[in-house]
Amino acid sequence: MAFVTNDNLTGLAVERWATAHSPRTAELMTTLVRHLHAYAREVGLTEEEWAAAVEWLAAAGRISDKTRQEFILASDVFGLSTLVVQLNNHFSPPATPATVLGPFHIDGSPAMPYGADMSDGLPGTPLLLTGRVLDSDGQPLPDVVLDVWQADADGAYEAQLANVDEARLRATYRTRPDGMYCVRTVAPLGYSIPMDGPVGSLVSRTDISPYRPAHVHFLIDHPGHDKLITHLFRQGADHLDSDVVFGAKDELIVPFTERAAGGTPEGGIIERPYLLAEFDFILQTAKSQ
Ligand code: BEZ
Ligand code: FE
Repeated sequence: MAFVTNDNLTGLAVERWATAHSPRTAELMTTLVRHLHAYAREVGLTEEEWAAAVEWLAAAGRISDKTRQEFILASDVFGLSTLVVQLNNHFSPPATPATVLGPFHIDGSPAMPYGADMSDGLPGTPLLLTGRVLDSDGQPLPDVVLDVWQADADGAYEAQLANVDEARLRATYRTRPDGMYCVRTVAPLGYSIPMDGPVGSLVSRTDISPYRPAHVHFLIDHPGHDKLITHLFRQGADHLDSDVVFGAKDELIVPFTERAAGGTPEGGIIERPYLLAEFDFILQTAKSQ
């Protein structure tokens, strides 16, 4: 091996990582090394700055656990999570666009009947979310499972609360034979990303708004179609144009219209004024079909 100089160091490191046993690992690692070296050279990285960055990474590791993943949050606020979603989900219109999964999805949510209330008496304005799930040709899809989760009216997710024994503001629903789904819940509020960790400490040294606009998450994984992970955003909500994780998309902004107490379009009864959001999800046919 040649001895190290300022000029040959990057090439030597790239050469070494090119020996990775899998060609894809070799590609990922050599490109990473090249970009890391280029970054350090471009900004003239000092030893103090690099030590601070390493301490920041270590702090992100220390604060992460089963329910909190600071590295996902970092990827979200850098726009990297959304970029990876865009690179991997080539949905063509009219298919509903995908967004980030986020850190608060919990597997195994309970199955609820059509129109059942997943808010279980929690405070907030009642909200009915309804529409159809369609294929790319506009045909209704029966028996599609929609996995739904959201923050409460204070902007908190189940995963952020201690001592929650039962599923809270999360459930799965199935479409009827006519492709209709109906979720009853309470209107979510926008919320700040967790600011008490290293990501928050970095964000607080900028003018970046830490807020997400009010939204409800959906995951629809139906055979023969690309998996759709997306959100519906409340039209007119605060922070729509500055979503800290770059998740808000025009096609996903839905009016939450005010309705008087009484019969719902879905045949139920809500005894208080409520909000109605109507949205059809359009799934992209899987490539292998
Ligand atoms: C969320 O939508 O739940 C979320 C996504 C990214 C970062 C924080 C929260
Ligand atoms: Fe969310």
